[in-house]
Amino acid sequence: MEKRILTGDRPTGRLHLGHYVGSLQNRVRLQHEYDTYVLIADVQALTDNFEHPQMLRQNVFEVTLDYLAVGLDPERVKIVVQSMVPELAELTIYFMNLVTVATLERNPTVKEEIKQRNFKRGVPVGFWSYPISQAADITIFKAHLVPVGEDQLPMIEQAREIVRRFNTLYGKVLIEPKAMLGEVARLPGTDGNAKMSKSLGNCIYLSDPPEVLRKRVMSMFTDPTRIHPTDPGHVEGNPVFTYHDTFNPNKNEVEELKDRYRKGAVGDVEVKEKLFAALDNFLAPIRARRAEYEAKPDRVKEIILEGTKKARATAQQTMEEVRAAMKLTYFA
Ligand code: TRP
Repeated sequence: MEKRILTGDRPTGRLHLGHYVGSLQNRVRLQHEYDTYVLIADVQALTDNFEHPQMLRQNVFEVTLDYLAVGLDPERVKIVVQSMVPELAELTIYFMNLVTVATLERNPTVKEEIKQRNFKRGVPVGFWSYPISQAADITIFKAHLVPVGEDQLPMIEQAREIVRRFNTLYGKVLIEPKAMLGEVARLPGTDGNAKMSKSLGNCIYLSDPPEVLRKRVMSMFTDPTRIHPTDPGHVEGNPVFTYHDTFNPNKNEVEELKDRYRKGAVGDVEVKEKLFAALDNFLAPIRARRAEYEAKPDRVKEIILEGTKKARATAQQTMEEVRAAMKLTYFA
């Protein structure tokens, strides 16, 4: 059997450079080696957006456009809408018996997210337990590999625990998945925050047009200790140089800029102008492919429906095996 990839994103907004280096790049690179499923996790997104579900609707299309724009091949990759695979809900319920409250409460990513959200009526059970449903996402497709950003590692660990428990109790049906981090596991935000994140407003989006990109780059956080261009500057931990390292293919230019920056022989404006040029080059083909698909909404719809249909067949097959292993086949 060809090995599988499953990963996904919540459709709460367009995808940004952090998504690209954390996961999208690996998906594009591995799509021809692995049977690849990419989940648009609208059910998971609902766990903290249930009061305004209409927000997800448009974003299912935006995220799909981002996928196609970065080069996921729709002939090859299954793009899947989570709510259209109800088997996931069934598997989640079975998995709930295999996880303790204490384990859920220790999940560092969920803890951090709960802090950021400040839920007014207390933490919804759906949000708090989403790592269980994410384990179902991964295992229902029998994925071997899950390309994700660093913040998702606790989810993969949780999925691995559930698989071990399931297979020990009921028989070896499920596959223990492995996480795969991007070359740059976590890209800092334009404000110097450790993480690029929509809720922090520090993102560069894959679909940003040149004028917007320029504004975001020119207002980036740099070295706060440097007041004049003639002051020696810090390159390490400076997000402008982190982005140069990540997106500027001209390594000589980057080394030369770093050198001059350290000596106080270059202004921030020149460093940022060159970063803008590099990023603009990087994004140009992505924007162009996005525009091509944007002009064909029916084709995009068809890609989503096709992918979801194939994925559902895979999910149904796994659930037959799950029910049989759990002895839930009374009339078979
Ligand atoms: N939790 C992921 C995020 O917030 C999205 C997601 C849902 C996911 N299901 C998944 C990622 C399964 C990997 C595998 O970005």
